[in-house]
Amino acid sequence: MERLATIAAVRAWRAADTGSVGFVPTMGALHDGHLALVRRAAAESDRVIVSIFVNPLQFGPHEDFEQYPRDLEGDARLLADLGVRAVFLPTGAMMYPEGFSTSVEVGGSLAERLEGSSRPGHFRGVTTVVVKLMQIAQAERTYFGMKDAQQLLVLAKLVRDLAIPTTVVPVPTVREADGLALSSRNRNLTAEERSSAGAIPRGLEAGATLFAQGERRGDALRGAVREVLEGEAALQTGYVACASIDTLEELDEVDEMALLAVAAQVGSTRLIDNRWLGLPDPSGLSQEALPRALRSSA
Ligand code: PAJ
Repeated sequence: MERLATIAAVRAWRAADTGSVGFVPTMGALHDGHLALVRRAAAESDRVIVSIFVNPLQFGPHEDFEQYPRDLEGDARLLADLGVRAVFLPTGAMMYPEGFSTSVEVGGSLAERLEGSSRPGHFRGVTTVVVKLMQIAQAERTYFGMKDAQQLLVLAKLVRDLAIPTTVVPVPTVREADGLALSSRNRNLTAEERSSAGAIPRGLEAGATLFAQGERRGDALRGAVREVLEGEAALQTGYVACASIDTLEELDEVDEMALLAVAAQVGSTRLIDNRWLGLPDPSGLSQEALPRALRSSA
């Protein structure tokens, strides 16, 4: 596996072969969730490139940029074992050299609600870095996890709106045995907090079960999730949403599809998770068969 330290090195690597490229952008501290993206990319592309960059632009001033876990050697071993051909390891100075002054922002409620209102500026940081990484990698396909549902929807819209020549591929969430979504931030949980965090997937499951039984009222679906979360004293609920996947506006009534999304604080760790109601597993679906919100071509 080649470790590429400069933008020029990635361009040279890209130009050296005509085969298709799959790109997986990450912030490192890799776990099985990230690796599911890598495996999917490896199955669909001739060459896989992964970037590892803890992007300062997407962290707020009081967030965990400094504490964000970093484990480059461990990450490199995992990626090499999966047959990844190249890993791009830019520095902050390389991505944002002195005088860097451009940002890319997806407007409207899709980026403003939920994580957008809890973390002002977060999505501007994500979209700015991802556009730059996509321009560098020039990959046919770029892989994102459904765990970060709003990020995925915002990035699919970005690619559609700006006609960026890559296909956004959504990959289902990888979970622990008790349902907790894998996250780099889970490493920060104490044993007690880890057990309290189990209420998050249980709450989402309660909502998803009610939906499967035919419930379509947004209030009832949100309420079912909230009830489970509020039963866990050590957990503070941030938001519970049952929202349109096109706008992320709250729904009074679910028509076909909705995103059931949660943010919660456990000790000093903030966790997010979601369930996509009414959406079939997109793994086997063509771009045309995906709902418009997840398509990357206009
Ligand atoms: P990071 O949190 O490292 O996640 C990288 C990718 O892995 C994202 O697409 C995320 O949705 C996916 N992922 C994380 N946990 C997952 C899980 N349990 N199951 C499936 N996929 C999972 O998201 C970011 O980095 C950054 O915002 C980034 C897009 C790299 C821009 O800086």
